[in-house]
Amino acid sequence: MHETPAIVVLISGSGSNLQAIIDAVQNGSIHGHIAAVISNRPDAFGLRRASEAGIPTRVLDHSLYPNREQFDAELMSVIDEYQPSLLVLAGFMRILTEGFVRHYQGRMLNIHPSLLPKYRGLNTHARAIDAGDTEHGVSVHFVTPELDGGPVIVQARVPIQSGDTAEELAQRVLEKEHIIYPRAISWFTSGRLKLEDNQVFFDHTPIETPLLLDTIES
Ligand code: GAR
Repeated sequence: MHETPAIVVLISGSGSNLQAIIDAVQNGSIHGHIAAVISNRPDAFGLRRASEAGIPTRVLDHSLYPNREQFDAELMSVIDEYQPSLLVLAGFMRILTEGFVRHYQGRMLNIHPSLLPKYRGLNTHARAIDAGDTEHGVSVHFVTPELDGGPVIVQARVPIQSGDTAEELAQRVLEKEHIIYPRAISWFTSGRLKLEDNQVFFDHTPIETPLLLDTIES
């Protein structure tokens, strides 16, 4: 039996964030173990990353369920087999029902490629470029029923350079994602990060604005 906190990771695609989390668990920077990786897409490359790291994988193909409620109910029962201390959404591209979100509230994190509250939803990089923004970035937040609307824990900023394509910008944002997400997860599993009454606490102190990656040491 594992004695470290159990983490369950949900993915839909490439799983590069999952890989960063696997690496951080393996090198000891995250106190915890990944109990399972669950994908809603059978062909998600992240499943291979998990298998190669010896992590149990499960696939729940959302297209085989008649509605969102039934998919989420099944997903919840699979997740709960692993009794996770933390549920991590790592490029999990599904809108979740309110019942699901409430069940994991305070122990579910998401990473979103924008400086929230800017650019909730999809195509964030192109939208930031089209708006003429000079910076973009990434946010890690607790998940609440409002889509991409939960309290933000930490952000990293990425300057937008003139002539940037959405793909180039996304690549630079991803590099920051791979630093920021393992960091936030390590805070949570070591007890430094909590959500109480929709307020984020870091080291027992309420944070009024998101932490910034470049201004915190570890
Ligand atoms: C990441 O950029 C993540 O921030 C984004 O999907 C990508 C997944 O990449 N998530 C969202 O847009 C959630 N709204 P990955 O599979 O390589 O980790």
